[in-house]
Amino acid sequence: LQFNALNIYVCPSGEVAALAKSAVAFDPSASDLPAMAESPEQFRGQSRLPRFAEPLRYDLVLRPDLAACTFSGSASAAVAVSSPTRFLVLNAAELAVDRSSIRFQDWAPTEVAQFEEDEILVLGFDRELPLGEGVLAMDFTGTLNDQMRGFYRSKYEYNGEARNMAVTQFEAADARRCFPCWDEPAFKAKFKITLEVPAELVALSNMPVVKETVCGPLKTVYYEESPLMSTYLVAIVVGLFDYIESSTLEGTKVRVYTQVGKTSQGKFALDVGVKSLDLFKDYFATPYPLPKLDMIAIPDFAAGAMENYGLVTYRESALLYDEQLSSASNKQQVAITVAHELAHQWFGNLVTMEWWTHLWLNEGFASWVSYLAVESIFPEWNNWTQFLDETTSGLRLDALAESHPIEVDVNHASEIDAIFDSISYDKGASVIRMLQSYLGAERFQKALASYIKKYAYSNAKTEDLWAVLEEETGEPVKDLMTTWTKQQGYPVIYAKLNGQDLELEQAQFLSDGSSGPGMWIVPMTACCGSYDLNKKFLLKGKTDTMHIKDFAASQSGQNFWIKLNIDQNGFYRVKYDDELAAGLENAIKAKKLSLMDMIGIVEDSYALSVACKQTLTSLLRLLNAYRHESDYTVLSHVTSVCLSVNKISTDANPDLSSDIKQLLIKLLLLAAKRVGWDPKDGESHLDVMLRSLLLIALVKLGHDETIKEGIRRFHIFLEDRKTPLLPPDNRKAAYLAVMRTVSTSNRTGYDVLLKIYKETSEAQEKSRILGSLSSCPDKDIVVQALNLMLTDEVRNQDAFYVLGGISLEGREAAWAWLKDNWDHVVKTWPSSSLISDFVNSTVSPVRYTHLFPFEILRALPFI
Ligand code: BES
Ligand code: ZN
Repeated sequence: LQFNALNIYVCPSGEVAALAKSAVAFDPSASDLPAMAESPEQFRGQSRLPRFAEPLRYDLVLRPDLAACTFSGSASAAVAVSSPTRFLVLNAAELAVDRSSIRFQDWAPTEVAQFEEDEILVLGFDRELPLGEGVLAMDFTGTLNDQMRGFYRSKYEYNGEARNMAVTQFEAADARRCFPCWDEPAFKAKFKITLEVPAELVALSNMPVVKETVCGPLKTVYYEESPLMSTYLVAIVVGLFDYIESSTLEGTKVRVYTQVGKTSQGKFALDVGVKSLDLFKDYFATPYPLPKLDMIAIPDFAAGAMENYGLVTYRESALLYDEQLSSASNKQQVAITVAHELAHQWFGNLVTMEWWTHLWLNEGFASWVSYLAVESIFPEWNNWTQFLDETTSGLRLDALAESHPIEVDVNHASEIDAIFDSISYDKGASVIRMLQSYLGAERFQKALASYIKKYAYSNAKTEDLWAVLEEETGEPVKDLMTTWTKQQGYPVIYAKLNGQDLELEQAQFLSDGSSGPGMWIVPMTACCGSYDLNKKFLLKGKTDTMHIKDFAASQSGQNFWIKLNIDQNGFYRVKYDDELAAGLENAIKAKKLSLMDMIGIVEDSYALSVACKQTLTSLLRLLNAYRHESDYTVLSHVTSVCLSVNKISTDANPDLSSDIKQLLIKLLLLAAKRVGWDPKDGESHLDVMLRSLLLIALVKLGHDETIKEGIRRFHIFLEDRKTPLLPPDNRKAAYLAVMRTVSTSNRTGYDVLLKIYKETSEAQEKSRILGSLSSCPDKDIVVQALNLMLTDEVRNQDAFYVLGGISLEGREAAWAWLKDNWDHVVKTWPSSSLISDFVNSTVSPVRYTHLFPFEILRALPFI
């Protein structure tokens, strides 16, 4: 799943789409509004709640009505009043609060104001509230909405009958849609939850059940009181489920809940879950903080997964794995997602960011540490090399002038969703990897463990983490890291050989070719001719010189190469001069470089070409050096660069694009022939991934033979859904091949795929098909796929699969469709990343015409 910050893009017809970004500089520290305010109005328009009264404990009773899709509730909160005031200010949204029920101790408020825009409830009393603890109580009702946020309903089938379940999704600021509360991460409190639900249903919450009483058709379920936690982590699920169970070495019970009859699909996640908990307990040197952990698959789910304390919710495709039906890449996604959410149980849930400005502490760390866990559970997946996918996404987004710093001001709840993007996740995770590599793995782990201990059950800011790391390691962590988290963008290092000196210069890299004002403290690493000869230093100014005499002496001629940013540990790019670039090209051909370095070189070269810092011809020449490569991790980057070049050439110079396609096909064909269509006995996980990757790329590039073979196998599959000729890993390629030949006058392929889509109950298969339907070159068919998105056939959660698949030929029509359906789209998917997905999939980031002069093919006799 992607969370893309939306920036400014130019669409095919030259229009500009923009998304408002928080622009106003504002100190987001807690509001210090006067406790002695005179009127409720004075609390409007604030970015944060006042702190003169804080919750300590909530006692919450909720009664969902699954048939009517409504709920009622009673909340009482023990509140600590710390300054003289006659007001209480808390959050509430889309709730009908019964005003006559409100009491603080024995007093009814004399003023009750609910400001929907600010999502706050202000209660005014006719006297000053006594300092110290008091209890605030009230009753309220709300709707189980269909927007996948707050307290919502999800639909499923049981014995062929349509049913509703009730589910919560509170991050970032939607607990206030379920009960009135102080809905900010720093107001940690204890929660005691009680549910009144139909007796035959499973009812889950963060903590284990302490008592259950049945009264007629209803049961009342009482849960243990939670430890101190933030509101966004509270969770409730009520519906029909089956489960499987296992336990950690320490005896924590772990369960996976699935739709009735599907528990076998939960086994893989259960296994990864148990192993991850054991691993994180050791890594953070702190036990798992709760008595149980449940993980549950929800049919309608906005994100991929959510780390609710003790009750982690997932979309089905991110939790369920079926040996017969899932692909190797589905398997990886499940493992990474489970590890990510369980890492949050420490990083996020036990220690929580103080405010959303520090969201990256949650998401960047969970992403980074999920790779650590998966690397240790599945060493054969070469997971750290695959981590460069994250770094690549971060580098690509952060090269836009409209990017934002990792630490970003957040002044209103509506601004929070936009920062769940590649900057918080991918750049966040990448700068952590850079820091770990600079400090050393052991020191880093030790310091993290003391940070977790120091801030357990409490909140931390970015600088709190730096302070602990500095204290533990004695390194200038704060100065170094501030340049990466408070400043947007990153540098490109220009490297030039001058005799025995390597001259280095940094400048902010921007993909439009301009150069920004940024300056960084850059952890530099370099090796020469061999990984044994390496150096490490901090580049602090604009320029520096590295003496390479001792380095270079032993190297000469063909064997002379220098690689900076070893293993791409740093979040920056490198532009080598011609001599150094030629040395590296030879080293690639001679297989002297690590997989990570080969990936870094091709990614940097692509980015530099787009920014006009080098010619496209030199990129194509470099790509040629990878022709004999057979490793999945490297080829996944080579392929993605090839597909980007294809997209650029289609936009920039359509006359040339079929020649460019042939050239790109040639680059991938050797590797594709090696893996073929048929799985080989005992082959590796990565080779299975490679097959699917290359087949899909060749289909997208229009390779006739692959398309024909895909269609042939698809027909066999239609006769026999279990045929070994089309295993789940290869299906996407076959579906795309089928869609390449569909048109309005010959639409059988579309109809047949749609039929399979409707028949299957497997979320992963559904997403594969949705991503194929819109890939047709016929724009009328693309529009049909988009219209399908608006029907009941496609769950709202799945719309972005359709968008992700839109063919290059269909973009213009899709853009027109979006404009025609704009009102409906923003109403159906409010505050979601879907709008940005849409713009991303229909428009090109830059006008590229200048990159494709006609001479380019003549300049390429070598391929
Ligand atoms: N905390 C997020 C879920 C979330 C995302 C809540 C956006 C609210 C808004 C969760 O931990 C997460 O990051 N999920 C990822 C999983 C992935 C990175 C493995 C997702 O949903 O894609
Ligand atoms: Zn997360």
